[in-house]
Amino acid sequence: MVGAASSIVLWLAGSLSAQPPPAPPTTSPSIPVAKAVETPAISYSAVHLDGRFIAMTFDDGPSEKLTPELLDLLAQHHIRATFFVIGRNVVEHPEILLRAVREGHEIGNHSWSHPAFGKMRDESVRAELQKTDDAIRTAIGVRPVLMRPPYGSITARQKKWINSEFGYRIILWDVDPLDWKRPGPAVVTRRIVRETRPGSIILSHDIHPGTITAMPATFDQLQAKGFKFVTVSELIAMGKPMPPKGPDTEGWTPVSSPGVAPRAPQQVPAGSPAPGLANP
Ligand code: NI
Repeated sequence: MVGAASSIVLWLAGSLSAQPPPAPPTTSPSIPVAKAVETPAISYSAVHLDGRFIAMTFDDGPSEKLTPELLDLLAQHHIRATFFVIGRNVVEHPEILLRAVREGHEIGNHSWSHPAFGKMRDESVRAELQKTDDAIRTAIGVRPVLMRPPYGSITARQKKWINSEFGYRIILWDVDPLDWKRPGPAVVTRRIVRETRPGSIILSHDIHPGTITAMPATFDQLQAKGFKFVTVSELIAMGKPMPPKGPDTEGWTPVSSPGVAPRAPQQVPAGSPAPGLANP
């Protein structure tokens, strides 16, 4: 504080005496936009890009019965997806994860036991992530580079230290069909197809039978609209820089970050829980 104040005083003094002013204090609270754009985003709910590329994501598996069925459907449609897996499910079915990777899909960390990180101590969050990171590496031979917090529950501070310690990008979503409430396959398909935009990251779950049933029509209709499916890491790699829309918000709801296109608010049916209290 003293240093910053001294710098400001020096700068003012320089201006008043008509001397060339020294450089403004580097601790200035207003961050130039150009500088912020150069900083890689660590959190994404969608990606700003050219082209009709999207990323389909499936959470909470692997499921012994449903995930292999989904992998069959993805192969038939020549679609690659991203799976955010639960560590304790990974150790039950590492062979399903290995199959997914061999078929071109990406694996991300979705914690060990699906708690809400937002109100947890750092040590507990760290243990959830590390155990799952280890389980994934044991199953497929490489560490994940993506993490999705259960329920989208994560603070801005947690995003920073998790990115710093684990190297993960934190992946949220901009399309949520609320498939965990089991509204029926036709509704899941309709919501996804209606809300998907270029650069969308679509949330769904490979632990609900109706979600798997919804996928053939969902894939057909999205492909008919010209969308091409890539993994989340591939989608991010295609991203174009954008000026930040504001400081990263602390809290539970999915938020846009530098590098992320702003989105219209999700249409949540009346009586639904608030965003973030859902069950992703
Ligand atoms: Ni989940």
